[in-house]
Amino acid sequence: MDSIIISGGSKLTGKVKISAAKNSVLPIIAASLLCPFECKLEDIPFLDDVYVICDVLNSVGANISLNKKSNRISIKADNITSIEPPYELVRKMRASFLVIGPLLSRFGRCRISLPGGCNIGTRPIDLHLKGFCALGADVRLGHGYVEAYCNKLKGAKIYLDFPSVGATENIMMAAVLAQGETIIENAAEEPEVVDLSNFLNSMGANIIGAGTDTIRIIGVKELKGTTHQVIPDRIEAGTYMVAAAITQGSVVVENVILEHIRPVIAKLQEAGVTVIEEQNKVKVVANGVPKAVDIKTMPYPGFPTDMQAQFMALMSIAKGTSIITETVFENRFMHVTELKRMGANIKIDGRSAVVEGTAKLTGAQVKATDLRAGAALVLAGLVAEGKTEICEVHHLDRGYVNIVEKMQSLGANIQRIQKE
Ligand code: EPU
Repeated sequence: MDSIIISGGSKLTGKVKISAAKNSVLPIIAASLLCPFECKLEDIPFLDDVYVICDVLNSVGANISLNKKSNRISIKADNITSIEPPYELVRKMRASFLVIGPLLSRFGRCRISLPGGCNIGTRPIDLHLKGFCALGADVRLGHGYVEAYCNKLKGAKIYLDFPSVGATENIMMAAVLAQGETIIENAAEEPEVVDLSNFLNSMGANIIGAGTDTIRIIGVKELKGTTHQVIPDRIEAGTYMVAAAITQGSVVVENVILEHIRPVIAKLQEAGVTVIEEQNKVKVVANGVPKAVDIKTMPYPGFPTDMQAQFMALMSIAKGTSIITETVFENRFMHVTELKRMGANIKIDGRSAVVEGTAKLTGAQVKATDLRAGAALVLAGLVAEGKTEICEVHHLDRGYVNIVEKMQSLGANIQRIQKE
């Protein structure tokens, strides 16, 4: 298993280009199952999670070709041979569950293993299933599997108890080929939901309101192939913005949609960091140690849970005490013990963490427990005194394109080493 070794202390400077959003690409690839025609996706980040969703589609008979040189993927689902992706693939990644909406909608059946909990919470799928039932599917659970059947899905009004991103996406994909009108109330407003809606509309779907809390989907008979360019990854962007702030550096983060990173910009500015906005890029300049700020994660447009760990790393060296409250997931503080091993002063009290800024972190051997926890440890390692060794870096491979190379290009003393 590989490790990442960082010698802290370099101020990051230069430019970094953000890749396309992992959390957009995954549902969009799943949505390509909705039609038998070729869908072409551009600017694809070739991440481990993207390979897994491609394998899931392959396993049901979709034809996928990856062009790594031009960062493109083309998918043709004209010969679907199975409605049951194998457990060995599905268990690798929760987002595999996103194929249920398209398969059910197009073929009237899907059997898929139930995703388990993970390091950030129990992560139930009740809201996805509630949506499928409302659309008229017969949904059964047993032996660790979900089976859903229908003759033809019928439009319905669905209220989500929580604006779940995955449930909104899965229900939207199921509803595009349903008979009549579906309305999703209290829908997730995340940019990735809007990107999926734009992709589906370019296939001929009729979706209005994505990006607001009410999405209206008027079912169509069939969809056609399309070409789509995926939005930039707002979480990767936020991570490099924090990298500039934590190292008191000056970094231009390119290929961003400013509107998508508003909460991160606002919180960095509140912490005393200079953020200069330009078209499709931001320059982040930190002269001095940032001030402590409080953070509360919320569904979009609130502060993203996927940036909570990275901000905790920043707050670990800030002036003052910050309270970080996680409201989206119930167990997303696994990085706390690792940051504490590096000298951070953090106490957890229920869903909040009280972070008392310390003058210095010290390098240590630490473990990435999930994707964003891994990113937080990289950030902490950049500013820590001495050497930090992060193990279990396969988590980072799921969501950050070439993080070591990108950090190196900004002047970080970071390398990846292969271990037995
Ligand atoms: N929830 C339910 N029932 C459901 C679905 C969700 O109770 O049926 C709860 C979850 O347990 C959680 C909350 O709702 O407490 C939010 O979950 P959501 O469904 O919104 O998350 P997700 O779709 O499973 C996506 C991203 C996550 C990101 C969250 C929140 C993808 C592939 N994943 O997950 O990304 O944290 O939305 O923004 O889009 C990451 O990239 O590191 C990551 C974990």
